[in-house]
Amino acid sequence: MFEQAVKSAAKQLRSGDVVVLPTETVYGLAANAFDEKAVAKIFEIKGRPAHNPIIVHVVSLDMARSCVTAWPDLAEKLARAFWPGPLTLVLPRAERIPSIVTAHGPTVGIRWPSHPLAQAIIRECGLPLAAPSANPSNLLSPTTVEHVVKALGDRVPLVIDGGQCQVGIESTVLDLTVSPPRVLRPGIIHDEALIAVTGTLSDRDAQQGQAVKSPGMLAKHYAPRAKLMTLNWRNDRELRQQILNTSNSLAGCHVIAHSVIPSAEGFDRVSVIPHDPEAFARALYAELHCCDELGAKVIIVESLPKTSEWTGIADRLKRASAT
Ligand code: TXA
Ligand code: MG
Repeated sequence: MFEQAVKSAAKQLRSGDVVVLPTETVYGLAANAFDEKAVAKIFEIKGRPAHNPIIVHVVSLDMARSCVTAWPDLAEKLARAFWPGPLTLVLPRAERIPSIVTAHGPTVGIRWPSHPLAQAIIRECGLPLAAPSANPSNLLSPTTVEHVVKALGDRVPLVIDGGQCQVGIESTVLDLTVSPPRVLRPGIIHDEALIAVTGTLSDRDAQQGQAVKSPGMLAKHYAPRAKLMTLNWRNDRELRQQILNTSNSLAGCHVIAHSVIPSAEGFDRVSVIPHDPEAFARALYAELHCCDELGAKVIIVESLPKTSEWTGIADRLKRASAT
């Protein structure tokens, strides 16, 4: 099965077609990163704006180096610390990566995914793969094959099933073309973990107001269809009162809690994700997909702790709730 899936995916990719494949973060819609026409299909299928660059996936440090024109010591250190894994490094683009991949910009995002199927497919192709998340632009990323099929359906010729994604939110994107390095998209590899290797990071607050360098930083992104709000409550009564104050009724509300679990009475549904950042990230998108599926009007998520490990998740909730 594994071998069969790898062979058919690689064949398809080498012939210039796209394939949906699992990674440890979210499912990706992949194409040969050297093939401009194949990459154009990704933009078309996703309805992705041409100004949004795509991450290139590799399976070795050599392959990573072959996609860039500079490989600073810091890249080597970070790659050795976090690859294979959910960290994307932004570096100067090599000529052989067509400019459609990088949205015609001078840099390319590179990552070595840890999912065994993703690795085996890239290895079998012998090519780096350009792959954004396998969802229509701006919507929720898929963390199961069912999410992919529902969102992209017959628009993709081949979908490889690798089970539920283990990380569950998209990779941390780190820009190494500036000094100190700058986090363009927070993820499960958080600032403290990065600083242990880099020593410093550019101050996130100082970034406010700077030109948007990564479209994943746009205010509205990663959004379910339902309206999403985060609220903080000490007990049931406080939660219900706050919802009524926003002039929403309890019916139509889906509550996602992790610490103070309310009773389900009056709500369409109450679900619980363990109070642990990794477990929370793994389950979050599946929960949000499920709320949409069940026709939720409003999704209420219990607000998150303010510590470093939660910043990637907090970032996605903020963008999902932007109007
Ligand atoms: O975990 C992930 O990163 C998943 C899996 C499939 O690897 N991919 C993913 O791709 O989330 P996508 O396209 O949905 O998000 C990529 C993000 C976008 O915010 C994009 O703007 C940013 O990375 N990005 C990619 N290349 C970049 C570059 N050269 N400079 C700045 N930002 C870049
Ligand atoms: Mg995406």
